[in-house]
Amino acid sequence: MAAALGRWPLGLTLCCLLGASLAVDRGNFKTCEQSGFCRRQRRIQPGNSPYRALLESLELGPDVARMRLVNEVTQVPLLLELWGLSGNVTRLRIQELNPLRPRYQVPDVLLGEPPAERLEVTGRDEGTLELSLGPGGHRLLVTERPFRLDLLRHRELLCSVNARGLLVFEHQRRRRDSLADKVSSVWDKIKSLFRRDPPKDPPGEEGAAQEGPEDGAGSTQSEKPTEPPAEPEEEPGAWEETFKTHTDSKPYGPTSVGLDFSLPGFEHVYGIPEHADNLRLRPTEGGDPYRLYNLDVFQYEVFTPMALYGSVPLLLAHRPRLSLGLFWLNAAETWVDIGSNTAGKTLFGKLLDYMQGGGETPQTEVRWMSESGVIDVFLLLGPGPADVTAQYGRLTGTQALPPLFSLGYHQSRWNYQDEADVEAVERGFEEHELPLDVLWLDIEHADGKRYFTWDPAKFPNPRGMLERLAARKRRMVSIVDPHIKVDGGYRVHSELRARGLYVKTKDGNDYEGWCWPGSSAYPDFTNPEMREWWANMFAYDQYEGSTEALFTWNDMNEPSVFSGPEVTMHKDARHFGGWEHRELHNIYGLYVHKATAEGQIRRSGGRLRPFVLSRAFFAGSQRYGAVWTGDNTADWEHLRISIPMCLSFGLAGLAFCGADVGGFFQNPGPELQVRWYQAGAFQPFFRAHAHLDTARREPWLLSPEHLAMVRAALRRRYALLPTWYTAFYHCHRQGIPVMRCGAPKNPKSNPKTHLR
Ligand code: GLC
Repeated sequence: MAAALGRWPLGLTLCCLLGASLAVDRGNFKTCEQSGFCRRQRRIQPGNSPYRALLESLELGPDVARMRLVNEVTQVPLLLELWGLSGNVTRLRIQELNPLRPRYQVPDVLLGEPPAERLEVTGRDEGTLELSLGPGGHRLLVTERPFRLDLLRHRELLCSVNARGLLVFEHQRRRRDSLADKVSSVWDKIKSLFRRDPPKDPPGEEGAAQEGPEDGAGSTQSEKPTEPPAEPEEEPGAWEETFKTHTDSKPYGPTSVGLDFSLPGFEHVYGIPEHADNLRLRPTEGGDPYRLYNLDVFQYEVFTPMALYGSVPLLLAHRPRLSLGLFWLNAAETWVDIGSNTAGKTLFGKLLDYMQGGGETPQTEVRWMSESGVIDVFLLLGPGPADVTAQYGRLTGTQALPPLFSLGYHQSRWNYQDEADVEAVERGFEEHELPLDVLWLDIEHADGKRYFTWDPAKFPNPRGMLERLAARKRRMVSIVDPHIKVDGGYRVHSELRARGLYVKTKDGNDYEGWCWPGSSAYPDFTNPEMREWWANMFAYDQYEGSTEALFTWNDMNEPSVFSGPEVTMHKDARHFGGWEHRELHNIYGLYVHKATAEGQIRRSGGRLRPFVLSRAFFAGSQRYGAVWTGDNTADWEHLRISIPMCLSFGLAGLAFCGADVGGFFQNPGPELQVRWYQAGAFQPFFRAHAHLDTARREPWLLSPEHLAMVRAALRRRYALLPTWYTAFYHCHRQGIPVMRCGAPKNPKSNPKTHLR
């Protein structure tokens, strides 16, 4: 979120301008303690798992093993499914056996159903079962009580699941608020303490869980849903939660899921972008977990686990001779706790332990907690780092190969005022012999922030402007945000309203919130019909004034709602199929990006590659274009953090990453500006951008010495363009990040061209 002076009351704005330092207002965003499910889950102590695996319920299909788990306190049965996927990937999914309504399973992220290997039972013992997972030598040991999974390769333990007993599955239930209900709940609980037998129903088939939850006939199985017999004590907030002035109605009550993974021998874990933090993830004990919840965070700070604009629930672990990945496919709000038994120990301390013959094997604990959905996890078993990124690429797709021009330099600011300004800036690049490929237009270019239009006074002849740029082989990007001005005279709005394609409130009205244009409605991009409509808007005759030389920037697609809880959409808003926003929040931005990229491909009849920059993202967004690190600040810490942030994006598949060169908020001094160009020239997406209130900072406004340094940085970038393009090609083919430290060791997956 930019310093939207227009969005703030005048008093508050003045107060900020007069002396407040730049810092995020943490009070606008939840801590784990303020997020009901995170608080509930974090209070559960390790070592008390109520789950038992019913080994006798095992059903072995040709490529999937199914068995039931039961919560011995509530007697609620779950269905566990295990796959050994080809290429060293193990998948495990846990869902309710008889849910009251379907649970959301994230669509449109996996490239397809991954091919699976044949599973075999290779051992049975009192209380354990062993499965072999195809030819890679991987085995799964299932322990009955408490339920636990150990994943081994030959004799080596790679990962244990629920070893700490933190499997949580808040089953769906009907609300009980009368006194009689409470009495009956306590009675049920007493009865359940004496009941040990699992329900005698067979495990069902994988169901059409994506039908939508509307009708309440929610079983993923063929059986009738059963009312769960016992309810845990409900803590306040379980059925309704208030944060600041916003109340989340939570009509379906608590539905969170969670699970722990122990990684023996691992001390180094990475990934789960987006956070403004070190590349290596830190232990979270004593602080907040890392949060994944796409948010528009005004003036974000560095070195915190707070959520930012995008989320990829992929964590990587590395130790000598082995790298692993954990991909937690869930699009709801998610928190990730990292624990380490070597946290806080100095190298000297570790050495001392070793010399004394003691010291534990290092171990990392990872605990995922999501507000809803199912548990669907892919264990990417490497063994090398390049194998893990390739395994992830096979599941979710690799970086789309960018058009060559987009690897050049991009000049942006909020805003280039009008056609004359655009022309003057372009001329400046010519006159100062600075290479440039793309000029950008921010929100003020559109007529009253009605995207897909042009301000008639400032941009009376967009086609002419684009043709002039194209004649010099340059391109333009215009911003198209996914909030639509509520205005009966605006075609986009009237059509979307008439077609019923907006996100709805819980009461079925069009959801409206406040954003750049004022009162705005939000297209439901989870609806394929909406995406189709949007993609068609990029046809040259629909987006008037556009040409082949115009590309797109999707901003504010978390989605940002200035008037909403945590500056985003209410979780009880409704999407296509009746799903609540809470189920799919983190994937909304991906759908905007996808629809826009498809529109660009379509407008050229499939001839030209698209270029679309998106601020929000999820797993799979790499298939649609570039991303950037949002509204950073012109200070040294933000320049520094741009490097680990982009490295971390790359590990999670998002190779086409950059940060606003020069910093978005505030004015950089000349040294910072030059250094930022020098660093930005070595980051995949290379764009200078600046806030509306900053001083102009085109490179020729610097002293001649500083300008010469910027020129040198730009030229170095262009001299290396073939290397960049080749690196992107290899990334597109194999998933190997473009921005990386050093060369991968494995010569087979190490193409000759790589960036050092
Ligand atoms: C958001 C974007 C920023 C853009 C501004 C106006 O703050 O992150 O890059 O300039 O909106 O569109």
